[in-house]
Formats: sequence, C-alpha cells, structure tokens
Amino acid sequence: MDKVKIKDKTFKTFIPESEILKRVEVVANKINTDFAGRNPLLLAVLNGSFIFAADLMRYLTIPCEISFVKLASYEGTSSTGKIKTMIGLNNDIAGRPVIIVEDIVDTGNTMKMMLNQLGTHNPESIHICSLLVKPGKLQVPLNIEYAAMEIPNDFIVGYGLDYDQQGRNLRDIYVLDEE
Ligand code: IMP
Ligand code: MG
Repeated sequence: MDKVKIKDKTFKTFIPESEILKRVEVVANKINTDFAGRNPLLLAVLNGSFIFAADLMRYLTIPCEISFVKLASYEGTSSTGKIKTMIGLNNDIAGRPVIIVEDIVDTGNTMKMMLNQLGTHNPESIHICSLLVKPGKLQVPLNIEYAAMEIPNDFIVGYGLDYDQQGRNLRDIYVLDEE
C-alpha cells in the first residue's frame, strides 16, 4: 500500500486513478444521454474540481460549455462566523441547463448555498455532478443526480482535493491513515 506524508499527516491509497477514470466515464455517459441536444453549461467550482472537470468534459461527446466559479469566505456580522459566497459567475445562465461540477459534497451546505445563488439567475435547470459524496455527513436534502463515487466519512486528498492546499497533484485518491 502506497503512503504519502503531507505536512503533519500520513495518507494511504484509497481509490486508484484507473478506478476514478472508470467512474468519471460512467457519469459522463449519463450526462451525454440526459443532455443530448441541450448544450449544458458545466459550472466547475474551483479549486478542488479542476482535475475532475477536465476529465469529465473530455468524456463528454455532446456540445457543452464550461465556466469556473470560486467560493469566497467572509466574516459574517453575526455570531454565525464565516459565510461563503459564490464569485466569478460571468456567464448569462438565464434559460440554460447548468451542471455544477464539484469535487466533494460533505455536509452539503456549500451546494445548498450555490443552488440558492444560481437560482436567482433564472437558469432552465440546475443539476449537481460531484466526484465524491459522503452520504453519512449530508445535513441538508440535496438531489445529487450525478455522483461518481460514494465514500465513508473519512478525509481524503488527491485528484484535485487538498489537505491545507497540498496533495492536489496526486493522481490517485488517498485517505487519512489513522494509525
Ligand atoms: P460542504 O459544504 O460541507 O459540503 O463542504 C464541501 C467542501 O469541503 C468541498 O468542496 C471541499 O472543498 C471540502 N471538503 C470536504 N470534505 C473533504 C475531504 O475529505 N477532503 C478535502 N476537502 C474536503
Ligand atoms: Mg470544493
């Protein structure tokens, strides 16, 4: 088993690149079927989804477009602390089918916020495509139509996902090694 050390933590191989790519292709094929002739706009959430978005889009065979948004945190004025908001949406999404491309859905709060914000721009429809979902941690009801893989509640890195900004360059997905 392959282990890597990132800063103070050790991670071990969890999902090899070959398996990830198979799952990404399956999800892409579903999108090919569901969005044929509809020219969907993929809206990838930086930074974590950049590698997934690149692979996903290259498995798409239908006309489609891509754009990137980022999440910015700012201090709330109330006791709620950090509040996240979506920035960088410079496309007119009115009347278009939008597919949010995310690296991982954990509590689902980020996705919920994005759905609310995007909804105000009157898209034809909004869909969620996530590389990974931790069903055990979901706190809000979400319809995740396109999930490449479901995983337990462990912390993972690689294939775009980071631990304290590092590890995004790992080709495989690694999980925190508890021992
Ligand atoms: P949520 O709002 O709790 O769903 O948080 C989702 C965000 O938290 C993701 O977009 C990731 O940036 C980050 N995140 C959640 N779990 C992990 C993990 O296991 N590894 C790396 N980042 C994670
Ligand atoms: Mg993310």
